[in-house]
Amino acid sequence: DKGTYPFYMLKEIDEQPNVMRKLSQVYLNDDGTPVINADLLDAIKSADRLYIVAAGTSYHAGLVGAKLFESLAGVPTEVHVSSEFAYNQPLLSKKPFFIFLTQSGETADSREVLLNVNEQKFPSLTITNVPNSTLSREATYTLLLHAGPEIAVASTKAYTAQIALQAILAKALGEADDQAAAKDFDVKQQLALVANGMQALVDEKATFDKLAKSALLHTPNAFYIGRGLDYAVSLETALKLKEISYVQAEGFASGELKHGTIALIEKDTPVIGIITQQKTAGLTRSNLQEVAARGAKTITIVTDALAKPDDTIVLPTVDERMTALLSVVPGQLLAYYTSLNKGLDVDKPRNLAKSVTVE
Ligand code: M6R
Repeated sequence: DKGTYPFYMLKEIDEQPNVMRKLSQVYLNDDGTPVINADLLDAIKSADRLYIVAAGTSYHAGLVGAKLFESLAGVPTEVHVSSEFAYNQPLLSKKPFFIFLTQSGETADSREVLLNVNEQKFPSLTITNVPNSTLSREATYTLLLHAGPEIAVASTKAYTAQIALQAILAKALGEADDQAAAKDFDVKQQLALVANGMQALVDEKATFDKLAKSALLHTPNAFYIGRGLDYAVSLETALKLKEISYVQAEGFASGELKHGTIALIEKDTPVIGIITQQKTAGLTRSNLQEVAARGAKTITIVTDALAKPDDTIVLPTVDERMTALLSVVPGQLLAYYTSLNKGLDVDKPRNLAKSVTVE
């Protein structure tokens, strides 16, 4: 039931602070130590490499997750698109462990990979929102997202839930392995900060409505750019915009623009820069200046700690490894309001289904 909301998507965007709190309750003790099945932790610990396999938004959540597993648990992690992996399996490490990210637990492309993985007798974990879903039943282990049903075709709360749960799992793994980075990382406190930060963002709906109207409503195309984690989020926010507002959008590694794509910049082309990583903030700002000099309409989404007076949207500061949970929210809201202001059916974009059960 969407209650007083015009569309499920907006309701689901609004639910994200509570999803963060719920994951914290389910998977963390009061003292912040993770509560994760010991067999699962042992199975992952004995692997030499993680392979995250997923499609669409879940793939984008995997890109963020990989950085968490590498930085907190020190385990090399690869992320793959299911439909590619299924028929072009790369050379695997000696002891691979597979993580399937899937909101629905029914995505045929991901299932095809799981069937191959099972045939090869490799252990696996499905992280899903749907108990008893096909991928949950067929993997060795399951962790549930507890995000509540996601009805809108455009995935929002499942993305942030997948990232939060991967952060918890990475913390658990790193701690089990006595890694200092994991021991020093207070995931419980971070998720509380993230929940409050998300709330502050979703309370600013009028700002995003206005920005969508001025920057995105009449444009044929748009770019999201960033580096590292901000690049991963730019892929997700571009997908959101494409699928519900039909604006041709691309997420770009900001350093790559000058290697070709900058040729597409014209007067008033929207270029949205995501800046949450101290190391690369200056570089992405230069890239924004380069496109602005060619007429682009630039918009910035920046964490408080890195913000300058002219920035468009300022995000509350959280640990740099967790910023994706906040920087994605403006992109979700911008996509929503662009679609809404175009009079489109936000929850049911053309040509798309909620779960994609054919390859
Ligand atoms: O249920 P899954 O997470 O496996 O679905 C994967 C994709 O089909 C899904 O994320 C799709 O990209 C969404 N429509 C994106 O908003």
